[in-house]
Amino acid sequence: MSLNEIADQLVAAGKGIMAADRPSPAFNQLLEEEGIPVDESAYRNWSELLFKTPNLNEYVSGIIMTDEQTRLRDSNGDSLIEQVIQRGMIPGVSPFKGMVVLAGSEGETVGSGLDGLRERLAEYAAMGVGFSKWRAAFQIGPRTPSYYAIEANAYVMAQVAALSQEAGIAPIVEPEVMLVGDHTIERCFQVTEWVLSRAFEALYLHRVDLEGTLVKASMVLSGSECARQADVDTVAEQTVKVFRRQIPAAIPGIVFLSGGQSDFHATAHLNAMNANFDLPWKLSFSYARALQREPMALWGNRAENVPAAQAALLHRAKMNGLASLGLWTEALEREAVAP
Ligand code: 13P
Repeated sequence: MSLNEIADQLVAAGKGIMAADRPSPAFNQLLEEEGIPVDESAYRNWSELLFKTPNLNEYVSGIIMTDEQTRLRDSNGDSLIEQVIQRGMIPGVSPFKGMVVLAGSEGETVGSGLDGLRERLAEYAAMGVGFSKWRAAFQIGPRTPSYYAIEANAYVMAQVAALSQEAGIAPIVEPEVMLVGDHTIERCFQVTEWVLSRAFEALYLHRVDLEGTLVKASMVLSGSECARQADVDTVAEQTVKVFRRQIPAAIPGIVFLSGGQSDFHATAHLNAMNANFDLPWKLSFSYARALQREPMALWGNRAENVPAAQAALLHRAKMNGLASLGLWTEALEREAVAP
């Protein structure tokens, strides 16, 4: 498949991506925080639950995995990558090795993992991986993000995108403007515009084929601690406005991260954009928390809860699939989720 075909398939009508790339140490820590028993097979059990949810491919086109997950085998000894492919979804990978603090900055970060990346990407491609994802995180504060952090991250994202394409892997570039903070929606708009404009400049300089690239973006939102919270229609309007200014129409699709939004808001915002605007790119989802929060609580690391957790995941995937078409309604949320 060409890079453009992979990108198009990832944003096929009514479908989005499931981000499952929480590394096992962070996953185990989350279980502990939630009071869920942690054991050595918890990570594999959870990954297997997510990837093998019956009919997930009706709403999910691809799954972002960690390096560890690309090498995991399920309880029957089958590779999880193969399971994803057999279920009609595209396996993706986050080749990132964690955030490091930029020297001389006020705690701003850049992703690490560039060393040996060319070789690792070739290995992933041979395993059947079709796409990659690389994240840059920007915290809004009185003096952040800085010009320095925006440039450094744009260059690293673009290098990863170029290396991915060289390996035949379609890149997803993820410049995330974080929700945490007391900033206004206007400030989020300004920062998002700046970050996107520099990201595309770097993609151009790195000769990245835009037709074979997706953007994983944050929405333009009021900070989580801001006293004035913008409503759904304003978020949709401001997000579409900044994308129209800074994201070329050659990009096949933009998939959102949920970023700490509630399940309801992640879906309602996506739906409002698709229902109310005529757009040059597909707008869909690449959620982790907004798909997996409820399934994880229902699962509790107990085998007997797997069907209920999978039903809850399928429900959220369906709601977001409908939102990617602008066809979601609040009434659909109230439909019973069969255990
Ligand atoms: P959230 O949807 O939880 O923000 O996660 C998205 C993500 O980028 C994980 O890879």
